[in-house]
Amino acid sequence: MKNILVTGGAGFIGVNFVRMLLNETDDINVINYDALTYAGNLASLDDCLNNERHIFIHGDICDINKVEDTFERYSPEGVINFAAESHVDRSITDPDIFLKTNIMGTLSLLRASRKFNVKRFLQVSTDEVYGSLGLTGKFTEATNILPNSPYSASKASADHFVRAFNHTYDFDTVITRCSNNYGPYQFPEKMIPLCINNILKNKNLPVYGDGMQIRDWLFVKDHCTAIWEVFNKGKSGEVYNIGGSNEKANLELVKILLKILNKPESLITFVKDRPGHDRRYAIDNSKIMSDLNWKLSVTFEQGIELTVKWYLDNKKWLENVTSGAYQNYYSNMYSNR
Ligand code: NAD
Ligand code: TYD
Repeated sequence: MKNILVTGGAGFIGVNFVRMLLNETDDINVINYDALTYAGNLASLDDCLNNERHIFIHGDICDINKVEDTFERYSPEGVINFAAESHVDRSITDPDIFLKTNIMGTLSLLRASRKFNVKRFLQVSTDEVYGSLGLTGKFTEATNILPNSPYSASKASADHFVRAFNHTYDFDTVITRCSNNYGPYQFPEKMIPLCINNILKNKNLPVYGDGMQIRDWLFVKDHCTAIWEVFNKGKSGEVYNIGGSNEKANLELVKILLKILNKPESLITFVKDRPGHDRRYAIDNSKIMSDLNWKLSVTFEQGIELTVKWYLDNKKWLENVTSGAYQNYYSNMYSNR
């Protein structure tokens, strides 16, 4: 048995990844280390909590003592760092926690990983570190790092620390940079689940600015298989971009969701734009496809149908995460728009 430390394994992508590892391997123990912030939810792992290969540790990646205790106790062979503050809008109102978790937290994991002889550290990063594209072109691994939001600035900084640990200490690291994920268990502060939740409640769909910003949507399960390929086969010191080959303008995306759920386009409401809003993201996938033989398993049409169905089948999960603190978040974020 190998121990793999997964941080942020109670968040959206983390729960999909942890479940994939438990279901699709039989020789890996998953040490799931998560602070359970507003975005972390153990109910998303209810079918995994009794699995003896899943060990959950409630801890903050910035708490170096707890991090070191965990490394000492479980001697992980590898670390996959998903833990982060992940929402751009929150980073605009409150950047400090992004600096702390995304930069200081990554540094504390890198330090402990070296100290306890971890064989490989994978940093889950984002295409947002590259900034914004014009009408043409795609982000490659060689694109300049030009982050525009406090969120992407913190992720870019973390990437630089990972790279520096590789260069300075010859420590084995890989970085993945993916496009916007969608799929089961995503917290409804992000565009797709927010719209699904609002459509189900007949509430307006807040489209920022002119709605012509473009994102390259990636089904979360395809992201998880890509991370696992990079972790197992990627070359130390390298970056791998992961995209969905699926660019959609926000307005088009919202119309697709309304059509699937059979609701009128009159629910669309144009609201004040996000400050510094990146216009277009698009990923060039060719490196991971040719070097590691990774491929997408679903089309956007299949992925979005599966996603909407998941939210319809899991209304209780949605009710639980949108009660309480979410109501305050929503009214603070959207009342002045
Ligand atoms: P999420 O916000 O859904 O989950 C983040 C998880 O990290 C939560 O479980 C939270 O409790 C945990 N966490 C936060 N601060 C922590 C801390 N200090 N210590 C320990 N745990 C902490 O995020 P996600 O969408 O699952 O994203 C996972 C990773 O993927 C992040 O690093 C994010 O930057 C990156 N990413 C996400 C997307 C996307 O579309 N969701 C796109 C590109 C990159
Ligand atoms: P989001 O899901 O927040 O991801 P990111 O900002 O990391 O790309 O947003 C996706 C796109 O949808 C982005 O262009 C912002 C836009 N958006 C809206 O138009 N309205 C909303 O209420 C939200 C949350 C996002």
